[in-house]
Amino acid sequence: TPDVRPLVAGNWKMNGLRAALDEIKQIADGVDGSLSEKVETVLCPPSTLLYVATALAEDSPLQIGAQDCHHHNSGAYTGDISAEMIADLFASHVIVGHSERRKDHAESDALVCAKAEAALNVGLQAIICVGETQAERDDGQTLEVLARQIEGSVPEGARAENTIIAYEPVWAIGTGLTPTTGDIAIAHEFLRARLKERLGDEGARMRILYGGSVKPSNAREIVAIAHVDGVLVGGASLKATDFLAIFGAY
Ligand code: G3P
Repeated sequence: TPDVRPLVAGNWKMNGLRAALDEIKQIADGVDGSLSEKVETVLCPPSTLLYVATALAEDSPLQIGAQDCHHHNSGAYTGDISAEMIADLFASHVIVGHSERRKDHAESDALVCAKAEAALNVGLQAIICVGETQAERDDGQTLEVLARQIEGSVPEGARAENTIIAYEPVWAIGTGLTPTTGDIAIAHEFLRARLKERLGDEGARMRILYGGSVKPSNAREIVAIAHVDGVLVGGASLKATDFLAIFGAY
């Protein structure tokens, strides 16, 4: 998308002990300098490492995000973490509606939307994930699923400055499989059209990331696709050397 600064985001999922803080330090050092003018970077470690991670990234352009939040700011929700708590740790982003949350925790579009709203209300940027399953793709339902998820999961108040969409085909996550560049192009163009229809100019400028088995060897051809405004990286973000190699695509 013209005039849009691409975003490379890493999602560590439920990986990362204290020993992994060294990788975060290396990533923070690695994205410093000329790279940061071209590309924005966010790393989402597990919430146990969030506070230390924001301290490690303090003097670097690396931004830190969480992987999920509750839709309320506080209360009797044992084990949950609120957007306000995440913002309080100096994190700047939060992923909501990742397919692993949608599936393993039965999160609906309405809940994902409420979480995104909670994030935006405390000044966090929301990374809202959408994507079809293998069965939905086989059924020819991909675009219908994406339309429903955009309609249901993206809050009315979403702006290009505070909201990022991540298209992650569920079957491409952690499998080493990726859609063809043509299929990614179709999905992203469709998402762009839906976002524009829903949010007007804000939707026209909102970044749409691709996620699912992105690695240094395929990043270049993926980021070259129209309306791919960055990538959301899982497995290949765990090691600083792999993650930093992905920036070579820009
Ligand atoms: O959120 C990123 C993720 O779901 C993609 O994971 O391991 O396929 O890059 P991976």
